[in-house]
Parts: sequence; C-alpha cells; structure tokens
Amino acid sequence: MESTQILKLNIQEDGVALVEIHRPEARNALNLELRQTLSETFQALNQNPAVRAIVITGGEKVFAAGADIKDFTTATTAQMYLRHTEQYWQSLVDCSKPIIAAVNGYALGGGCELAMHADIIIAGQSAKFGQPEVKLGLMPGAGGTQRLLRAIGKFKTMLLVLSGKFISAEEASQMGLVSEVVEDENTIPHALELAKTIASFSPIAVQQIKEVTNLGQDLSLQGALTLERKAFQILFDTQDQKEGVNAFFEKRPAQYTGE
Ligand code: CAA
Repeated sequence: MESTQILKLNIQEDGVALVEIHRPEARNALNLELRQTLSETFQALNQNPAVRAIVITGGEKVFAAGADIKDFTTATTAQMYLRHTEQYWQSLVDCSKPIIAAVNGYALGGGCELAMHADIIIAGQSAKFGQPEVKLGLMPGAGGTQRLLRAIGKFKTMLLVLSGKFISAEEASQMGLVSEVVEDENTIPHALELAKTIASFSPIAVQQIKEVTNLGQDLSLQGALTLERKAFQILFDTQDQKEGVNAFFEKRPAQYTGE
C-alpha cells in the first residue's frame, strides 16, 4: 500500500482503488493539504485505465469530521474566496468512474459533503451524518444544502442544516442519504466487494450510467430521458455490448475489455 502522511492509496488487481483518509489526530478533518491531495489522487485515478471503481473511506473509526476548523479561525472573506476550494471538489465531480463512500463513524460537514460526492454510500451501523456548520456561525459550503436537497428533499434537508443535528446510519438510510447499512466491521469489505462487481462490468457502460444518472438530476424529465436514450444507443457501438449479449447466450461470464 502506497502511503502518504494523510492519504493512503491501494490500487488492487481487480480494478478497484481504495483511497483512505488518514488524519486520525484531527478526526480526518479536511485541511487544505488533504483536499489538494484528494483532488490530485482522483485526477490520477480517473486517468488510470487500470482503475474501474473507487472506494473512499476514512478507515474503521471516522469518515471525516468536516473542514479543518483551524483553517477558519482568522480567515477573511477574500482569503476564503482566493482558496478556491471548489477546484479540489471538482476533481471528484469530474471523475467518470464510480465512487463508493465507505462510511464508519462521523461524516460531518465537509465529511458528509465528501460522502455525497460519491455515487453509492455504504454506512456502518454506528455511522453518524450531519451538517453542523450552523453551530459554528457558518453554513455548508461544499454542496451540503444543495446535494442534500436533491438527495432527501427540502424538509429533511432543512432539519439537518438548520439544527446541525447528527443522524444515525439507519435514519440516513431511511431519508435516502445512504445506499446500504452494514455491520461496522463489514463497511469497507462490503464496499470493496461491491466495487469489484462494478469493476467487472463494461467500463463504458458503467461510466455512461453514472454520467446520465448524475446529469439527469438537473435536467427536465424529457431532456433526461432523451439523454438516457442516446447514451443507451451509443453503447451498441461497443465491443463490450456485443460481448455481454453473446456471453449471456453462450452461458459464460462476459470478458469486458473496455472497447
Ligand atoms: N477540524 C479540526 N479539528 C477537528 C475537527 C475539525 N472539523 N473535528 C475534530 N477535530 C479535532 C479536535 O479539535 C480534537 O483535537 P485535540 O485532540 O487537539 O483537542 C480532536 O480532533 C478530537 O476531537 P474531539 O475530542 O472533539 O473528539 P470526539 O470523538 O469527542 O468528537 C466530533 C468527534 C463529534 C467529530 C467532534 O470533534 C466535532 O464535533 N467536530 C467538529 C465537527 C464540525 O463542526 N464539522 C463541520 C466543520 S465546518 C465544514 O465542514 C464547512 C464545510 O462545509 C466545507
């Protein structure tokens, strides 16, 4: 496993990359160095053809306790603007490969926002989610209000962002913020297994599914359905599509090459 001080990266032979945030002394708080490293890592993983699915985790104890509050103590508006932290998040947004967040412990503020940059969220039963920025005289600044709104609707979003309360994995799951809740010790193994399954499929099909689903959220239904239909049709020009259909009739596992 390749390891930097704050981020560990393991690219497995099955096409799954495991990215692990490692700042235990600060509950994995996302300081600027960590955000920059995360951004560079996701750019590299996106460009690496051997990587077909990515799992992001904070390890067994905590996912991430949000932005590093130490960065906020004396910051002025101009300094916050000039940090342009949106550029770091954008690398995750631009990642065409599926991202699974494996959440144990707290996913708060920027940590919850980080989880929401994933496509699937697997939570351990003891995980806790929240947007507590309001308690700091702040508000979410990396998609907390808007991604929550789209995931769980106005009234649950308002409850979380205005009260700053923490919710359990089970509550988050019922709201639609979490894809699956598993035993704590199974969070990362389950996410890796799911990523392995996704990585075994045609990467073109997988990436089209991700792109259309994400884009469709902000389009009219008619526009989104048209986009879906066009993407569906494009897949008929891939060898993987022929392989998938032939393998079905030949009753054998498909071998996808990404072509
Ligand atoms: N930033 C910097 N340091 C943090 C931190 C954060 N977000 N969260 C925890 N830490 C540090 C603590 O200061 C403490 O450091 P010391 O040992 O040096 O005192 C250490 O991590 C352990 O923290 P606790 O003793 O508080 O640990 P706990 O297990 O009792 O509680 C916790 C854990 C519930 C996560 C609590 O630390 C907490 O509430 N953290 C802050 C959560 C928060 O407000 N997040 C939002 C940040 S703002 C944001 O994210 C903006 C945005 O949208 C981009």
